[in-house]
Amino acid sequence: MSDRRVAIVGAGPAGAFAAARLLRVGGGPEVDLYERLPTPWGLLRGGVAPDHHEIKRLDETFDRDVLGPRCRFLGNVEVGTDISHGDLMRHYDAVVYAVGAQTDKSLGIPGEDLPGSLPATDFVGWYNGHPDRRELDPPLSGRRAVIIGNGNVAADVARMLTLDSAELDRTDTAEHALEALAASGIEEVVVLGRRGPAQAAFTSAELREMGHMDGVDLHVDPAAVELDPVSEEWLAQEGTFTAGKNVELLREFAAAEPKGAPRRIELRFLTSPVAIHGDGKVESIEVQRNRIERDDSGTLRARPADEPTETIECDLVLRSVGYRAVPLPDVPFDERNYVLPNERGRVVDADSRDPVPGVYAVGWIKRGPTGILGTNKRDANETVGLLLEDLDSLPAPQAPGVEAIDALLAEKAPDLVTVEGWRAIDALERERGEAAERPRVKLADRDALLGTARTGA
Ligand SMILES: Cc1cc2nc3c(=O)[nH]c(=O)nc-3n(C[C@H](O)[C@H](O)[C@H](O)COP(=O)(O)OP(=O)(O)OC[C@H]3O[C@@H](n4cnc5c(N)ncnc54)[C@H](O)[C@@H]3O)c2cc1C
Ligand SMILES: NC(=O)c1ccc[n+]([C@@H]2O[C@H](COP(=O)([O-])OP(=O)(O)OC[C@H]3O[C@@H](n4cnc5c(N)ncnc54)[C@H](OP(=O)(O)O)[C@@H]3O)[C@@H](O)[C@H]2O)c1
Repeated sequence: MSDRRVAIVGAGPAGAFAAARLLRVGGGPEVDLYERLPTPWGLLRGGVAPDHHEIKRLDETFDRDVLGPRCRFLGNVEVGTDISHGDLMRHYDAVVYAVGAQTDKSLGIPGEDLPGSLPATDFVGWYNGHPDRRELDPPLSGRRAVIIGNGNVAADVARMLTLDSAELDRTDTAEHALEALAASGIEEVVVLGRRGPAQAAFTSAELREMGHMDGVDLHVDPAAVELDPVSEEWLAQEGTFTAGKNVELLREFAAAEPKGAPRRIELRFLTSPVAIHGDGKVESIEVQRNRIERDDSGTLRARPADEPTETIECDLVLRSVGYRAVPLPDVPFDERNYVLPNERGRVVDADSRDPVPGVYAVGWIKRGPTGILGTNKRDANETVGLLLEDLDSLPAPQAPGVEAIDALLAEKAPDLVTVEGWRAIDALERERGEAAERPRVKLADRDALLGTARTGA
């Protein structure tokens, strides 16, 4: 057995794939998987939409492939707060950061912070039972919600706001969100894309899914799917398969007769928000029409068209314009691209680009906040491949060995959740789920999670 030890920080999909890859090396290093929450699997648990049951079941593969004799789960430990980067460097041969992108990108428009204007990141965490989002209490009594951005997160959020209660009841949606969504008054969700239909950020499967929901009419104005000349040329010459498929689907939806369903999702294009208005809370959003233009680099950009703005009345605005990473104390950070500066996963100094020996990055903190679950597997294989190449030439840690690490954790992380604690949480959630004919009934409160974890310790 190797006496090498690697710390992975962040037990999301990227951290899990990195751990699994390290564990496949016979006689390879032992792994400690640090996680700030009491539960593992990052956005698989706290991001992926609850109605995507099959995708959520990747947690069973992670549990089987990752948590075992050579990999310890060290939950409820926040690196940068409870223990430092320096602590990890003193005790481990290498440290792999897999901390994802923990906050939202802002729009910078007036009214963005009015009550009722929320980042989709928070709303997603709320319905998925993320303990930090438990108290969000989004306003759901109004008739119309507006979502800004037309990527897959926007699609998830639009579905969650309009799914039939009976369908939601079969998912692992957090109890507080199930109750609030069942009582919701929302009948219409308007999704605003700043560019045209050919540039929508949805993948085709997610777009198709929105068009085939029970109890929901998907409305697309036929005029909105007539492409402008710049987009027409782009689609014919450089457009991706997804862009072509999306335009085809949008044309089908635009031509379809409405079913007379009780709820409606409307997809709008070439429309940007300019301000959110309201007296103490969101009452409307002001939007402007755009046209598409190529910039000097050839990228198609949305530019304001010379038309008057329009006001859409609504009580809830969800800003779904992307996630953003936050810096970690004492770890290099690329302030322009919001990632750890890195060369194929080897972290480098932000200015000199000199390698920082023994420090690696994987997943969204390496590439930025794009890519599906599988993208992180390829990415993890690349980073871990380089780490294994480097391992023999890395400087030895000052205080190696599991005893020194355990002493540090005993001092700095008294509420540590180990694999036994996670197994107790998982078992209780699944047991409650079985009784309710749901995949699991989540514990969404940090104290309840920690209390349950203690029963397994
Ligand atoms: C709303 C949403 C839905 C999605 N749905 C799908 C889908 O249906 N299908 C699909 O293929 N992909 C989906 N994706 C994409 C997929 O979830 C991501 O590609 C993937 O989660 C990125 O993995 P990651 O490990 O880099 O980040 P994350 O999943 O964010 O994991 C990072 C982990 O690090 C932890 N952490 C952060 N800071 C610290 C710290 N300082 N110390 C210790 N731990 C820390 C976090 O708590 C978290 O557990 C979705 C993404 C989002 C946002
Ligand atoms: N089911 C799934 O597989 C699934 C589900 C959820 C998420 N994911 C993945 O997770 C990643 C993140 O998803 P995401 O939806 O957060 O990001 P995304 O795909 O990057 O979409 C972001 C959206 O926000 C828009 N936007 C950005 N800045 C804006 C601004 N200032 N004003 C108006 N609109 C703005 C973008 O428009 P522009 O294109 O014009 O920039 C785009 O429509 C993606 O790779 C996604 O595929 C996958």
